[in-house]
Amino acid sequence: MTEELATAHFSEDLKRQLPLVARLTLSEKVRLLTGETMFTLPGEDRIGLAPLAFSDGPSGVRGLKFMGGEAVALFPNATLVSGSWDDSIGEEVGRMLSEEAHRQGIHVVLGPTVNLHRSPLGGRLFEAYSEDPYLTGRIASAYVRGMQGNGTAACLKHLVANESESLRTVMDSRLSESALREVYLLPFEMAVDDAGAWSVMAAYNDVNGVTATEQDHVQNQILKGEWGWDGLIMSDWYATKHTVESANGGLDLVMPGPDGPWGDRLVAAVQRGDVDEATVDEHLARLLLLAERTSALRHGPVYDGDAVGPFNAGMPAPDSRIRRDQLRHIASRGMVLVKNDGDALPLADDDTIAIIGRHAISTQGMGGGSAQVNPPYISSIAGALTERYGGMPTVVDGVHVRNRPAAADPAFVSDPITGEPGMHVTYLNAEGAEIVNRHENGTAISIGWDDDFDETPTGVIIAARLRNRAGPVRLGGIGSGTWTTSSYTGILGQGNVTSAGFDPADAMLHPPSYTEVFDLPADALVTVRFDFAATDWVTLLQSRPELNLAEESHLLATGSYGSVTLVAEQDTLNDEHALTKAEDAARAAGTAVVVVGLTEEDETEAKDKTTLKLPGRQDELIRRVAAVAARTVVVVNAATPVLMPWLADVDAVLIAGLPGQEGGQAVASVLVGESEPTGRLVTSYPQADGASPAWNVTPDSNLAVTYSEGTAVGYRGHHRGLAPDPLFWFGHGLGYGAWEYGPARLAPTADDGGAATLEVEVTNTSSRHSRETVQVYFLPRDINQPVRLAGYTGVDVAPGETATVSVMCDNRLFRRWDEAASAWQSLHEGELLVARGLGDIRVRVELNSHGPA
Ligand code: BGC
Repeated sequence: MTEELATAHFSEDLKRQLPLVARLTLSEKVRLLTGETMFTLPGEDRIGLAPLAFSDGPSGVRGLKFMGGEAVALFPNATLVSGSWDDSIGEEVGRMLSEEAHRQGIHVVLGPTVNLHRSPLGGRLFEAYSEDPYLTGRIASAYVRGMQGNGTAACLKHLVANESESLRTVMDSRLSESALREVYLLPFEMAVDDAGAWSVMAAYNDVNGVTATEQDHVQNQILKGEWGWDGLIMSDWYATKHTVESANGGLDLVMPGPDGPWGDRLVAAVQRGDVDEATVDEHLARLLLLAERTSALRHGPVYDGDAVGPFNAGMPAPDSRIRRDQLRHIASRGMVLVKNDGDALPLADDDTIAIIGRHAISTQGMGGGSAQVNPPYISSIAGALTERYGGMPTVVDGVHVRNRPAAADPAFVSDPITGEPGMHVTYLNAEGAEIVNRHENGTAISIGWDDDFDETPTGVIIAARLRNRAGPVRLGGIGSGTWTTSSYTGILGQGNVTSAGFDPADAMLHPPSYTEVFDLPADALVTVRFDFAATDWVTLLQSRPELNLAEESHLLATGSYGSVTLVAEQDTLNDEHALTKAEDAARAAGTAVVVVGLTEEDETEAKDKTTLKLPGRQDELIRRVAAVAARTVVVVNAATPVLMPWLADVDAVLIAGLPGQEGGQAVASVLVGESEPTGRLVTSYPQADGASPAWNVTPDSNLAVTYSEGTAVGYRGHHRGLAPDPLFWFGHGLGYGAWEYGPARLAPTADDGGAATLEVEVTNTSSRHSRETVQVYFLPRDINQPVRLAGYTGVDVAPGETATVSVMCDNRLFRRWDEAASAWQSLHEGELLVARGLGDIRVRVELNSHGPA
């Protein structure tokens, strides 16, 4: 490819970078196209390029350290943001994340995640918005506008067809071109066209046999070609598998660094003529444009003197009043009331309340994996409700909710030297000598790959003062290696555990654990020594020929990953005891509030779920409480569908998601009616395991997962009969209002790009202010085409008032990809359904190609 050809389709913004590119030699250019560390890029003074800094991600801006970094604001998870069905919430989240980024000197935030909730088993669904591409695209666009409008780059991830985690680095998503374009690429297309996203992350998986980082079809032809997009494509971490194919296939940047398959190998490939230097120039021009957009090019220090001011100045602290209010508001806006018989909610001021369940006491604020952050605190539902009822409610701990030990609550342990919450850690080198000792805020740290030491630590000694009562304490740690626990009496126990599996990230995120229960005196001082067992990934991966890994695969260059997590908790959970105590408390109360849910064991990265059943004996807990309580309210503290075999036995169910650091406060404010749970479901809740249009996430013997439901994902497939009707439809949600729908009419088509605009009358027949989300679905006349959400508008209405709501449908839902012609065909005949989820259709309007019927 000649220079002219490679840059012919360049935007003016990209062309502006070419003179800078021309000032560098080939190896200088290539050096800039691989990360310098885990989350930073190299700078180049000669062209005024500052080193760019990246940070995950969807639930907060964690910073440069994977685990154990500074405390940062923990946001409500993605399904709570999209659950609001409100662009202004998406935009506010984007803007706030940008502020968090500015505070830490971060240029690019690695989010939003715009993959879809294809199978409810997907481990990372909590990071993604919905099973619906249009809702996902709307919320993602709003987030990108909010973030980039404030000067921080967003990164749409993961391109593309990355809907499950099992064998994620080698699996092949097989799907039709129509499913690819109509469904899985649509959120990317919307966030590119409507919000101008500045970067995208190429996924781990293959798509129809070609790995994502080498997808000439998706990256070069569709994004950069058809869409004329001028942003940058970076690889997911360690996802790049071949030098030449990725460079020619449209990938612009290899992450992380400093090692990887480009560097000298790419220079040699250019010299051999396998990659044109013009292609390298194109990648670099895109990188420089990203740097220019985030003020890291030609501008000197980032944001200095601009509207936002220098780093760290004026940005709200993670636990500031303003952040608390914002995060509480966002969380409650996305919560979904799916059942509310007899107006069990909101709770009455004078009710006697029993609060029951592990998740009430230890409310789950976030999922696991790269989305996790180190939050300043996580408010508990029990604590926040107790505050509101002046200390009156009875609180009962629940049954076990985990199968594995969890990180110690930082509030349960303190640093014996500084006295602060957290632990004191001495880092050891290979000889067992001290590298440094220091306070760590959290109770989990990553070691050996993203730290700032001159030597690589191979072990740690953790010292902690426990806030325990005298009695049984579970003590130990999570990490692959040898563990030794001690107290002032000497060694307590010792164990050696090693990782199984072959995905290095999986080994880092889900390492094995060693714990034992010891009888300890109150406020015990303990030390836990950990000696890291490095895994030889190269040998391990090479012993799996079926994975077909090339020598240059980034997976083979991962070195040793490691994380160390302290486990320390009072060992008091006893299921039998908890069930009886819960029944006693429920019997005595006016309303029993049972809080159940999933944990970071279930909703996490590099691992899928195997069932939607609530872990442990939580279903039994609800049933036994409901059998004796006057009224039972269930709060589900999970982002994704769970089974509800007890639904008929309870009065109300609130889906609270993973509500972030203000989680407990947000749930309490909804339960007592201070705020309305205005959310609508973003994903259908199946009635049983397997009862959804796409279920299996385990790759077959060819490492393939086939998207056989085509474009009929989620509610579309339920509606087509690919699975029984769901327990709750996508779009369902009661709120605290009550709504009557009047007539709907098609407005004359304006030249505004909308396919159709529907005007719908809605009346709030309840006695309180409420918010309704008017949803419009398009059911094409062509029976091969599934129903799809085509537009929605939210409206706040006073009691007894009627509002006329205008819903503009989006043209991109009125087309189908014609595989034979390789072209879009428009679909304009059918019906528009105005519905509160497809289980509750209120109005139908005929649509034909000649306009309103
Ligand atoms: C995840 C990405 C994340 C990256 C960096 C990967 O394992 O798939 O979503 O941004 O790590 O932490």
